[in-house]
Amino acid sequence: MSGALAGRSAVVTGASRGIGLATSRSLSGEGARVLMLARGAKELRERSADIGAAAVALPCDVSDRAGVAVAAQHIAAELGGAPDILVNNAGLFILGRIDALSQDDFAASLDVNLIAPFLLIRAFLPAMRERGDGHIVTVGSIADRQIFPENAAYAASKFGLRGMHEVMRAELRGTGIRTTLVSPGPTDTPLWNSMETGRTGLPPRTAMLSAEATADAILYAVTRPATVNVDELRLTRA
Ligand SMILES: NC(=O)c1ccc[n+]([C@@H]2O[C@H](COP(=O)([O-])OP(=O)(O)OC[C@H]3O[C@@H](n4cnc5c(N)ncnc54)[C@H](OP(=O)(O)O)[C@@H]3O)[C@@H](O)[C@H]2O)c1
Repeated sequence: MSGALAGRSAVVTGASRGIGLATSRSLSGEGARVLMLARGAKELRERSADIGAAAVALPCDVSDRAGVAVAAQHIAAELGGAPDILVNNAGLFILGRIDALSQDDFAASLDVNLIAPFLLIRAFLPAMRERGDGHIVTVGSIADRQIFPENAAYAASKFGLRGMHEVMRAELRGTGIRTTLVSPGPTDTPLWNSMETGRTGLPPRTAMLSAEATADAILYAVTRPATVNVDELRLTRA
């Protein structure tokens, strides 16, 4: 396979729909072998089959700590070590005023958006350090810097995710492992299917970013020369 990522491997979480699927497509389009994670096995297998032999479906609930450990073992066995690129993308978006938000919804947001990336980073970082090579991409959000009413659970998880990512960048500078935070504004993905955007004061879906825009930004970051770290990309609809 030719392309800028020929011979490289990538793990993408939340890969069956939206930004994760677009990213899996674009990374594999440049020749990477892509391991795609999501919970819904049927949809994931269908989407990875659409991409072709370079994509592998690995059903996993990233909010299940034991399940993440098992998936990490599978990935290491499949690739003979850590992936070259890890894209922590899976995300949960639950709206609700703080006094109306359940403890379970708040905890689930932290589990998927913050703790799962931590677990996957921890699983692969030792081998990346040993190799002196790797790229960890964190999918943040406009909401990792900006607050909106009813967004306490999501903002807490994404502000925390950005904080963790920035600490990681400081710790990894000079090790050969690169880190990029990609933070999109509102994006037209199935995430909005069960939500009226009118409620949030956001634009209609037709006026949002496309999932491919964020996939492009990720592809840009991971295809720079090894001496260049793209620290952060923030995307909004022009
Ligand atoms: N859409 C936006 O407006 C927007 C804006 C800024 C940032 N983002 C961020 O971009 C990322 C992707 O969002 P999206 O809009 O593409 O979402 P999406 O269309 O809702 O897709 C979410 C993906 O994550 C998977 N997923 C959800 N929970 C999971 C879990 N517990 N374990 C494993 N996989 C899980 C879903 O598959 P299963 O349900 O089968 O598991 C699906 O593949 C998220 O981090 C989100 O916060 C989105």
